[in-house]
Amino acid sequence: MSDKVETITVKVEQGKKYHWCKCGKSSNQPFCNGAHKGTGIEPLTFVASATGDVMLCGCKATKSPPFCDGTHIKLRNKP
Ligand code: FES
Repeated sequence: MSDKVETITVKVEQGKKYHWCKCGKSSNQPFCNGAHKGTGIEPLTFVASATGDVMLCGCKATKSPPFCDGTHIKLRNKP
């Protein structure tokens, strides 16, 4: 899990490639900055289907990466 445990809304451009950080170690959340080296985890590459704001997962526990599915709310409420 990353320090940013909530939804991260970012602007994307249609047709542009993005590398979503899957390991949680990037200091440039929600995107990969290479900090995953040695973890065995690789970033998830996706191409934006439209230009505009997208809600990306910050907790890294989403079941529909790279998009937020609300899982961070369950994590936050765990005892
Ligand atoms: S820094 Fe997390 S996947 Fe690259």
